[in-house]
Amino acid sequence: MALILGIESTCDETGASVVADGFDVRSNVVASQVELHAKYRGVVPEIASRAHIENILPVIREAVQGAGVTMQDTDAISVAHRPGLIGSLLIGVAAAKTLAWSLGKPLIGVDHVHAHLYSVMLEKNVTPAWPAVGLVCSGGHTALYAVKNWHDIELIGSTIDDAVGEAYDKVAAILGLGYPGGPIIDRLAAQGNPKAIRFPRTLLERDSLDFSFSGLKTAVLYHVRGVPRRGQDVKAEPLPKLSDQDLKDIAASFQAACIDVLIEKLRRAAESIGAKSVIIGGGVSANRGLRDAMTRFSLPVFFPAMQYCTDNAAMSAGLAHVRYSRQQFSPLDLDAITFSGFQRT
Ligand code: KG4
Ligand code: ZN
Repeated sequence: MALILGIESTCDETGASVVADGFDVRSNVVASQVELHAKYRGVVPEIASRAHIENILPVIREAVQGAGVTMQDTDAISVAHRPGLIGSLLIGVAAAKTLAWSLGKPLIGVDHVHAHLYSVMLEKNVTPAWPAVGLVCSGGHTALYAVKNWHDIELIGSTIDDAVGEAYDKVAAILGLGYPGGPIIDRLAAQGNPKAIRFPRTLLERDSLDFSFSGLKTAVLYHVRGVPRRGQDVKAEPLPKLSDQDLKDIAASFQAACIDVLIEKLRRAAESIGAKSVIIGGGVSANRGLRDAMTRFSLPVFFPAMQYCTDNAAMSAGLAHVRYSRQQFSPLDLDAITFSGFQRT
């Protein structure tokens, strides 16, 4: 049995987790910073890195104790070292290197977005049929991957502007709802009419596997506030009164547009790579509307268990096991990298 301690600090969650053999989650501790960032309606990088510094050691300690083991019992230390906010990444990477060096354990750096895909394996240990189309939809990413297996993950499409979770958060701000917006809009959408307003579905060129969500966000803004006159600063004006039913209908119609776009892109990607299954991870994979719509997709679909949709360290400890099994370790001068290592050229 191989026991891996994973560390996550790419954005605004500090996480540590102990995972056995790549799927058996022995502990999974996440210190969320949502409250610190809520009043800014988004993540403030400096606040995030300071909170990571305060949280990282208690979170690691809690994860190790929670798993009923000691640091020495672990076989490797893994860390999501890319992509993310540089100041945040540095805290997790420094902690992981220090532990690996002082304990004499191998270090394994993994890609956070790839780890979101791997999250479907946690606790289930059911490997999707290959090749799979992978979709990571979160606050920072909306990207499609051709997944040949867990060693071979190729980026085939990504957003050219906002991520879908970011669109959820911005639409929630436009509607005067809280942060993060995804779960709130998801809840309201369940009670609204998805056909009430026909918001745009931006699909780009015929074969494009890229995404664009900023037009949809602007369409919601104009629907709520009207198209601004020249020189008018709509954001400085108070939010027009919306009834409860208006809010639910806007949420449902916005969500329907997001889901239609995600599904059409999945269909295109599946066709282009001859996929046998679909993997969906990231914060937006918790969306009930998306999960429900995907039950009608033509291929088997793998979602993570709810607690592994948003950022956590279990997914990187899981993916690290794939590398551990081939003894593919990282050097102790592993860098924190802001961008994904698998950008298309
Ligand atoms: O994966 P994650 O924790 O962080 C990133 O790597 O970005 O994703 C957070 C994002 C936020 O934008 C949040 O609004 C969205 O996931 N989210 C949801 C739901 N739960 C979280 N979006 C739609 N429906 C949900 N139920
Ligand atoms: Zn993430």
